[in-house]
Amino acid sequence: MAAPFDHRFPSVDDLRAGARRRIPGFVFDFLDGGCNDNVNLGRNRSDLGDVELRPFYLRPHGRVDLRTELFGREYDAPFGVAPVGLQGLVWPGGCETLARTAAARHLPFILSTCGSASIEQIGEITSGEFWFQLYNPVDPAMREDLLARAEAAGCRVLVLLADVPTFGYRPHDIRNRFAVPPKLTPRTILQMLLRPAWGAAVARRGKPALLSLGKYMPANLDLRQLADFMDRTFCGRLTGDDLARIRARWRGPLVLKGVATEEDAEIALSHGLDGIIVSNHGGRQLDAGQSSIRALGSIVDRFRGKLRIMLDSGVRSGPDIARALASGAEFTFLGRAFMYGIGALGDRGGDHTAEILERQLRQVMEQLGCDLVADLPRHLVEGR
Ligand SMILES: Cc1cc2nc3c(=O)[nH]c(=O)nc-3n(C[C@H](O)[C@H](O)[C@H](O)COP(=O)(O)O)c2cc1C
Repeated sequence: MAAPFDHRFPSVDDLRAGARRRIPGFVFDFLDGGCNDNVNLGRNRSDLGDVELRPFYLRPHGRVDLRTELFGREYDAPFGVAPVGLQGLVWPGGCETLARTAAARHLPFILSTCGSASIEQIGEITSGEFWFQLYNPVDPAMREDLLARAEAAGCRVLVLLADVPTFGYRPHDIRNRFAVPPKLTPRTILQMLLRPAWGAAVARRGKPALLSLGKYMPANLDLRQLADFMDRTFCGRLTGDDLARIRARWRGPLVLKGVATEEDAEIALSHGLDGIIVSNHGGRQLDAGQSSIRALGSIVDRFRGKLRIMLDSGVRSGPDIARALASGAEFTFLGRAFMYGIGALGDRGGDHTAEILERQLRQVMEQLGCDLVADLPRHLVEGR
């Protein structure tokens, strides 16, 4: 039976505030922050907020149906869980919790290469209904091993990451001396003591680790060492040749994530990729970049019908999902929203976040007089 709706947290903003109260400061900063001056982070939100929708009150309308098809699967709603590294740091077991939520609600879950559960665990939890985000390894043997593991676990869709050619410059993490697992300094110890529920959960379930990568990496890395390991192990800068190689190897649907330009979308299309996620990594990489909703427009005009076009970065609510879909995205993913959920509510957080988003989206569509997700573009106020 579904848990009763938690009336303390009617919105993702409430979950964010709850997470801030419940997890240590350096963990909240890692999750919440963007890069440099957080300009791109803010633009994702404000540009999305500027999208306006028109209601048609007097048109006949039936029941709202949120079901959406992607790559031959029908999902119950047009949103899913974006890949996030180290979910287990925000709340122990967080990666598994979100995979469970997605599986139970028939939503896509994307496991990060840096996720805190292993490919095999997530394969089991989702009965193979998961997507896997691959950081492209320098070593072809490691790439083959990761792909073979994903395949053996039943992964449906492979997601290649384009937008991390460098480790983002994040002053809050530098200031906090962020490390994996966290370093015990007087400051981090104090922050952990101030959040006893988080400390107790970690004591019960163990320190977070990058379980899919565990067999390839040394333990106990500080931020600098982690950045060095990532730089050495993965070629962040993807090329057309990488796309061709992985396209030849991967039999299922292949998606490029982190697309911000028509140029990159064209290269993805020319190498036979099936879809793109228009994204700027939630404002964590290029502070001077465009918001993802702004980048979307010209990409949709040129590639609609040729590539499946999805969007993330800045989505926090049902109205935001409606705005993105009205602007031409076929599907949305959310990173922080789900993470705030587990930060605030632990094991209940994934389900509660999905419930908020679904209720809000249903209400917006009923208000607009829009029965089908695919009809949302008719409600866009153009030319702003
Ligand atoms: C803490 C954190 C860690 C992330 N780790 C990854 C990752 O390992 N791989 C990846 O492809 N994207 C990663 N992302 C980016 C998300 O997949 C997604 O693009 C972004 O969160 C979307 O923006 P939103 O948080 O505003 O929804 C991460 C984002 C956050 C906030």
